[in-house]
Amino acid sequence: MRLAIVGTGYVGLVTGVCLSDFGHDVVCVDHDEAKIAKLRRGEAPIFEPGLEALMAKNTAAGRLSFTTDLAEAMEGAGAVFIAVGTPTRRGDGHADLTYVMAAAEDIGRALKGYAVVVTKSTVPVGTNRQVADAVRRANPGAEFDVASNPEFLREGAAIDDFMRPDRVVIGVENDRAKKVMAEIYRPLFLREFPVVYTGLESAEMIKYAANAFLATKITFINEIAALCERVGADIKAVSKGMGMDGRIGNKFLHAGPGYGGSCFPKDTKALARIGQDHASPMQIVETVIKVNDEVKRRMIDKIIDLCDGSLRDKSVAVLGVTFKPNTDDMRDAPALTIVPALVGAGAKVRVCDPQGRHEGEALLPGVKWVEGAYQAAHGADLLVILTEWNEFRALDLGKLARKMAQPRMADLRNIYDPDEARAAGFTHYVSVGRAG
Ligand SMILES: NC(=O)c1ccc[n+]([C@@H]2O[C@H](COP(=O)([O-])OP(=O)(O)OC[C@H]3O[C@@H](n4cnc5c(N)ncnc54)[C@H](O)[C@@H]3O)[C@@H](O)[C@H]2O)c1
Repeated sequence: MRLAIVGTGYVGLVTGVCLSDFGHDVVCVDHDEAKIAKLRRGEAPIFEPGLEALMAKNTAAGRLSFTTDLAEAMEGAGAVFIAVGTPTRRGDGHADLTYVMAAAEDIGRALKGYAVVVTKSTVPVGTNRQVADAVRRANPGAEFDVASNPEFLREGAAIDDFMRPDRVVIGVENDRAKKVMAEIYRPLFLREFPVVYTGLESAEMIKYAANAFLATKITFINEIAALCERVGADIKAVSKGMGMDGRIGNKFLHAGPGYGGSCFPKDTKALARIGQDHASPMQIVETVIKVNDEVKRRMIDKIIDLCDGSLRDKSVAVLGVTFKPNTDDMRDAPALTIVPALVGAGAKVRVCDPQGRHEGEALLPGVKWVEGAYQAAHGADLLVILTEWNEFRALDLGKLARKMAQPRMADLRNIYDPDEARAAGFTHYVSVGRAG
């Protein structure tokens, strides 16, 4: 089938590349000319493992192309996907639907024959109907259906998540649209990955409920971690013991500096607003948002305590700034709260991250970027691990400690063993949810 994808960000690009790998003819559209030029040169504008290779394979096979011209992309398309951003609207926490609605109107104007307008962006309940209205307003005679097809991929493992999903959720209202969607996802259906068909509202709700639940799980374990520190329990043992319960599961039970990223912060806020708007408050989610902010502040206090109450003129090495490993995405990363607080408290901060510099440089003023962990540690009074990139997981702790002026470590991802860190020469070591 010929398909058009509007928006070539983390979701749109991965969707386009993977659908072309299924055998469809995919044209990806973005109004960002620089991005399209880059894509045409075969370069991915984002860091996502495996993406560039799969892009090259499908471009070479003639199934994948990139354009800024929506009308050209939609020529003969059986479906057009909306995969544009839905950031938090400034001021009120709602999802900002400006980009989605603009895309819907553009699609309406470009529609010729029948097509399914598929919303892949994460959007509040009711948005797919608004998309249908916008398309109809732009083109009253257009023949189309809408479908809600939320995306659950994780950055850093996006290709695998798209190709091997836990489930595909499709909200549709009639058989014609259902048939088109079934045809698009046929390769997954044939490999027996579950496809959940629902109405539009349920599909929209599934996405927010799933993200809010995961954010809640992380926040729950972070709160338990704070209590562990007070009572002398070890959060790693607690998470392990809890996670082995099949009803709970071991995923999203790792204590750390709070959730961040392009989805959880904005989607929890949007769900809280949806609840308020419908007089059905999301009290748990509202608390999760508040507790997550407190977790980040607690990390700042932890770091300051480790330096005897003052960071003035202290040299601090920060390892990792992206919101998680294997991505260059800095959106709402805990580093954006924690690093400026360190700079504000008078620390001289040196930062390294395998992929974060390109995005991070503008977002973290007043820090010095260095190449790796050992360079960051040189002469430092404190080392802070903020993102658990693989290359930070197996550092030579003795070498690291010897390079530092004061061998102190705040391991906010619990990747080292406290006894090993001390044996390697770290006089001070703190982590999350582990006493001492
Ligand atoms: N990033 C994730 O891990 C993830 C996972 C699941 C769902 N989502 C959801 O998917 C959606 C997209 O997220 P993202 O992270 O890919 O966003 P993004 O900001 O990385 O990309 C959005 C792209 O859309 C383009 N765009 C905006 N308006 C356009 C228009 N009218 N025409 C053409 N191009 C346009 C932008 O230039 C940009 O390249 C969001 O709703 C998000 O919540 C994201």
